[in-house]
Amino acid sequence: MQNHRIAVIAGDGIGPEVTPAARAVLDTVGTRHGIAFRYDEFDWSCKRYLTEGAMMPERGLEMIRQHDAILLGAVGDPGVPDHVSLWGLLIPIRRGFRQYVNLRPIKVFDGVESPLRHAAPGSVDLVVVRENVEGEYSEIGGRLGRGQAEEMAVQEAVFTRQGVTRVVDYAFDLAAQRRSRLTSATKSNGIVHTMPFWDELVAERAAAHQGVVWDSEHIDALCAKVVLEPSRFDVIVASNLFGDILSDLAAAVAGGIGIAPCANLNPQRDFPSMFEPIHGSAPDIAGRGVANPLGAVWTAAMLLDHLGHGEAAAEVEDAIAAVLAGTPVRTPDLGGTAGTEEFTKAVLAALSR
Ligand code: NAI
Ligand code: MG
Repeated sequence: MQNHRIAVIAGDGIGPEVTPAARAVLDTVGTRHGIAFRYDEFDWSCKRYLTEGAMMPERGLEMIRQHDAILLGAVGDPGVPDHVSLWGLLIPIRRGFRQYVNLRPIKVFDGVESPLRHAAPGSVDLVVVRENVEGEYSEIGGRLGRGQAEEMAVQEAVFTRQGVTRVVDYAFDLAAQRRSRLTSATKSNGIVHTMPFWDELVAERAAAHQGVVWDSEHIDALCAKVVLEPSRFDVIVASNLFGDILSDLAAAVAGGIGIAPCANLNPQRDFPSMFEPIHGSAPDIAGRGVANPLGAVWTAAMLLDHLGHGEAAAEVEDAIAAVLAGTPVRTPDLGGTAGTEEFTKAVLAALSR
């Protein structure tokens, strides 16, 4: 029996509604593969912020440092500014644990209608590799002259040789294991310092990955191509901001943001990696038991894969595909009438077959 300790941060809104689905799937598939999961729950959230004044305890990172992985639901509350929840919890974990790769796979499953007429099931299978710890999301800058006519705000983007190189290398390696195609998102025509630097480093690393065919596209044109021709992409590597936007766009192409998972990876494994669906806390549907748990369940598959259980991970993905292709069970965001629990049960049943 192999044991894993998982830190669970269910968070706010639909976070606590979808994380039980991920746990149930881990337990079910784990039983079959001789893997036992122990979950430690942490109430870090906007709810905690509203009562205790902080999203997590001061020594929060130490408390989850020894876990094998972190499973996160979603954080965000209409009563708390979004930058407080993001910078009070997610970003400290991503940065403190050097989770410099944000991996977001996108697929159009058989049985899920893409909003795009031409995106046939099976035709879209891409991964966005987003830089996750530097870039445009920086604390460098400030506000001056608040409330005055000359009020201003300045925000600096930070790109380092080491930071760009390691995420680009990760993306090239991933492409080499897939269909050997890499697209780099840039905007070197408008952003004249950081983006040409990014482009140079991508070209430099391409030389070390000869087997991968690569190109570079400006982010605006790339967004249009992901909509018009999603099937042509394999791996897309992008800076923090571009990757954030692009991966939500690509998830929408695949049928909705309730489906897509993401992994915040520390590839060196010096620290635990964090797994979360890409969606937020969805306050508009929270508490009704109708949230789509698919993103959280697929997230569990990524967690399994990261912990070295590739076969178990593939079984989870197959179970998702089987429910979508072979049954009418869907949550309302995908046009169905099932609740979170009913959909989860269908996945568990498919897993047990
Ligand atoms: P959101 O992802 O929470 O919701 C956008 C829309 O998609 C809503 O209409 C929602 O009902 C729907 N939706 C999202 N997930 C769904 C699911 N699993 N099943 C069915 N429908 C689903 O994004 P929004 O509204 O921009 O943000 C709400 C809060 O979540 C904000 O406070 C935001 O900061 C936070 N947020 C947190 C994230 C995280 O924890 N990683 C990521 C994105 C947003
Ligand atoms: Mg986002």
